[in-house]
Amino acid sequence: MSNLFSPFTLRDQKFKNRIAVSPMSQYRARDGHANAWHTVHLGRFAIGGAALVYAEATAVEADGRRTHGDLGLWNDAQISELRRITDFISAEGSVPGIQLAHAGRKASERRPWHGETPVDDEDVNERGEAPWEAIAPSPIPYANGWPAPREMSGADIERVIAAFGSAARRSFEAGFRIIEVYAAHGFLIHQFLSPIANQRTDDWGGNAQKRMRFAVKVAEAIRANWPDGYPLAFRLSATDWLDGGLETADIIEVSTALKAAGVDMIDCSTGGIGGKERPRRMTIDQGFQVPFAEQIRSGAEVATMAVGFLWDAKFCEEIIASGRADMVTLAREMLNDPNWPLHAATELGADSEHRMWPIEAGWWLMKRERLLTKLGLR
Ligand SMILES: Cc1cc2nc3c(=O)[nH]c(=O)nc-3n(C[C@H](O)[C@H](O)[C@H](O)COP(=O)(O)O)c2cc1C
Repeated sequence: MSNLFSPFTLRDQKFKNRIAVSPMSQYRARDGHANAWHTVHLGRFAIGGAALVYAEATAVEADGRRTHGDLGLWNDAQISELRRITDFISAEGSVPGIQLAHAGRKASERRPWHGETPVDDEDVNERGEAPWEAIAPSPIPYANGWPAPREMSGADIERVIAAFGSAARRSFEAGFRIIEVYAAHGFLIHQFLSPIANQRTDDWGGNAQKRMRFAVKVAEAIRANWPDGYPLAFRLSATDWLDGGLETADIIEVSTALKAAGVDMIDCSTGGIGGKERPRRMTIDQGFQVPFAEQIRSGAEVATMAVGFLWDAKFCEEIIASGRADMVTLAREMLNDPNWPLHAATELGADSEHRMWPIEAGWWLMKRERLLTKLGLR
């Protein structure tokens, strides 16, 4: 019996296995609207057997986009294209999820292949894409060469919290069945959490309790607009990897507070608060963030997802079997092989006859496999 292919339930939602597709920004949206690209990009992961398919970071307000190509759910007109995608994913037996986001001081950035630097006049000339003003808890630039964001007023804070609530209501109407809030990688909520980006002295900063208040209010606003039977997850950076930044003990406290506000699962990533350069303390290896999923799972007694440099089926099986995390989340390996879950099932002996495949493919592959065996080629 494979643990990776055992079912998992959060609230009323059933996941057929423990494999999730991580949110992956495509930078292909126009004015936040999804299109056929997103349908195919996400749909192929449902065909490929993942239990949970997350749509990419989706902005809750237009100015909260990271790039001009980000998806958005800041108005009702953006719902219908997403509905087509979720209908397909659900029909194929996977759970469609959405990652709700606000970039804060990382807004108005160029796409990765345009340099991941701030949008400026060059982008206006080359692509007709103008820069816009970013907001953040404190007027501290993201990195050298970045403009200082505008410090958020109390009204800005209330507006963004409400925007997460409205986007949750639209996510439901768009057919999503789990929300993940993007509170990692130096995005707005992470900026509030981390003393590196939050130097406020009002109710929203100054100590750990006040810095986590924004995240908790966002969770509450979503819960007020999201069915009780539907799970809510947060992606957190379990460490900033920087002296003076957040450590895992801090994130266990944040996870505990979020759980009390109705959050069901923590997706455990790391880093991203201090520019693109890799912090000295950060070393990358296969599954290097799994220990954080394990610590948060036991420290906050909450379900966790392990993410980062995962591609080996047996390694992933072991993560679930040993109880280090409840789900594994893959990004780049899914781009490499959208059928990774189906191939992992064969490798782990969970599907010797291609029965997990959609019948339109599995029927043929099973016959081919029998023939190959008969001919002595397997
Ligand atoms: C193309 C691409 C786009 C990404 N976009 C997002 C995103 O929108 N939100 C997010 O939380 N992480 C994003 N990430 C990070 C991944 O979700 C994941 O955490 C990271 O790539 C590590 O997992 P991997 O080693 O399996 O790729 C992106 C990664 C890739 C490769």
